[in-house]
Amino acid sequence: MKPKAFEVRRVVVLGTGGTIAGRAASAGDNIGYVAGEVGVADLLESIGAPSGITLVAEQIAQVDSKDMSFNVWHQLARRCAHWSNVPDVIGIVITHGTDTLEETAFFLHSVLPAEKPVVLTCAMRPATALAPDGPQNVRDAIAVAVTAGAHGVTVVCAGTVHSAVDVQKVHTYRLDAFASGDAGPLGYVEEGALRRVREWPTAGAASVGLDAAIKLEGISADVEWPRVEIVMSHAGATGAVIDALMAHGAQDAVVPVRGLVLAATGNGTLHHGIEAAAGRARASGIKILRATRCVNGRILPRGDDAWPDAGGLSAVKARIALMLELMRESPPGEA
Ligand code: SIN
Repeated sequence: MKPKAFEVRRVVVLGTGGTIAGRAASAGDNIGYVAGEVGVADLLESIGAPSGITLVAEQIAQVDSKDMSFNVWHQLARRCAHWSNVPDVIGIVITHGTDTLEETAFFLHSVLPAEKPVVLTCAMRPATALAPDGPQNVRDAIAVAVTAGAHGVTVVCAGTVHSAVDVQKVHTYRLDAFASGDAGPLGYVEEGALRRVREWPTAGAASVGLDAAIKLEGISADVEWPRVEIVMSHAGATGAVIDALMAHGAQDAVVPVRGLVLAATGNGTLHHGIEAAAGRARASGIKILRATRCVNGRILPRGDDAWPDAGGLSAVKARIALMLELMRESPPGEA
């Protein structure tokens, strides 16, 4: 139900930690800080809401995103689904660390309907920095969330808006740390207004051509999610890592590997040592997906491909797609 024009509209800001919530001992230190220290309600104190909008803060987690877990993803997805169904909530903003932001964005993209905007944002400098970038990024994310017609999962950093499918962290230090590869950004936030240059994203794995659609209700935090590992093909590679993973997974009390993403060279090619071991793994029932190591471009399928490919998805996103596909085929607990 669309809220009437005179009603207060709300944007919910979900906090998960990250550098945006980081605290350093001195204002001049942009790298020696502890991520995930400042509460999301405190972050919002200095950030005014746009006229007619009320901000609601909710702390979901307080983690350095290198340690992001399935449990936090599960809670985040559930709270996004909850707030999306509240009529006067017009959008959701998520504050998140930069390091695995693209993974969380892609996961949410894959499991949430695209009806309302879910905008992830972050910072490269801690909240205590002399000139923190977080407050402006949050303001920009809110501007995207309140834009008429906004929907789907997007990422806002340094005034640029990216889609969850295309976004990747590409720089270790610069404030403008994200890029969207060949696809290019979805738009730019300029003085509080979105200039969109591409269509809003459509929901779910169908948009990336993978059969990974899964309903959020089918995901449980109580049981182990399918284990999918990433193995990189490189000069001098052998199949030893894959063989070791298979042997390890066969031991009692170890979660067995159910899928492998092969981070392939160029247009999806694999070292012959990796390929031979992947063949042995596949023969024992392991699902294999190739992703390219290249930052730009996509794997162009050839008629004689022995292995399915993840198109333009990076290895970390291909891993999520494969995990969801395995979950759909046999839900957690039934594997
Ligand atoms: C993190 O990803 O939580 C730490 C790094 C960052 O946010 O830039």
